[in-house]
Amino acid sequence: MNSNIKIKLALDRDAIHQRVNEMGRDISADFKGKDFLLVGVLKGSVCFIADLMRALEVPYTLDFIGVSTYREGTTPSGRVEITYDLQSNFKDRDLLIVEDIVDTGITLDYLLGQLKVRGAKSIAVATLLNKKERRKIDVKTDYVGFEVENKFYVGYGLDYKGMYRHLPFLATLEN
Ligand code: PRP
Repeated sequence: MNSNIKIKLALDRDAIHQRVNEMGRDISADFKGKDFLLVGVLKGSVCFIADLMRALEVPYTLDFIGVSTYREGTTPSGRVEITYDLQSNFKDRDLLIVEDIVDTGITLDYLLGQLKVRGAKSIAVATLLNKKERRKIDVKTDYVGFEVENKFYVGYGLDYKGMYRHLPFLATLEN
């Protein structure tokens, strides 16, 4: 591990859990009576989806999709591919995609396009973090946990070179 890297607390456990519970209530109200499929986008969403699942007050089924976006440094090249596909038949079903962060929007735009073409009835998006400043594609986000500034976030599932996903809080990388 590079010992020169410092991290700074951005959102503590309580702030995250309070907001995730609020999102769970909002989503539950909107999805009442729908037999929907909750879709976690691997890997960054794992902590968020685990908490969101327990905050939802309506029934749903769960699946995951793995997506990889090739990056040059921190900038995505625009090339996206599915590395692990949904195991459920989602044709004519309502989907709720769960992301940890929407940054340029390239990954989500690709995912929305793919799932729509493959027959999803409707697709909503819940993201814990939204970094609007970096947007390259104008994608929709229906439920946003926190609007964040243009910094590099780690913890609560988010990584830097594979590290820091385990942290129970969100932090920013500092020089
Ligand atoms: C992150 C995040 C989103 C994507 C957002 O995934 O989980 O899927 O980047 O970036 P974008 O809006 O610029 O496309 P990452 O590629 O870091 O993979 P990971 O979730 O496995 O860490």
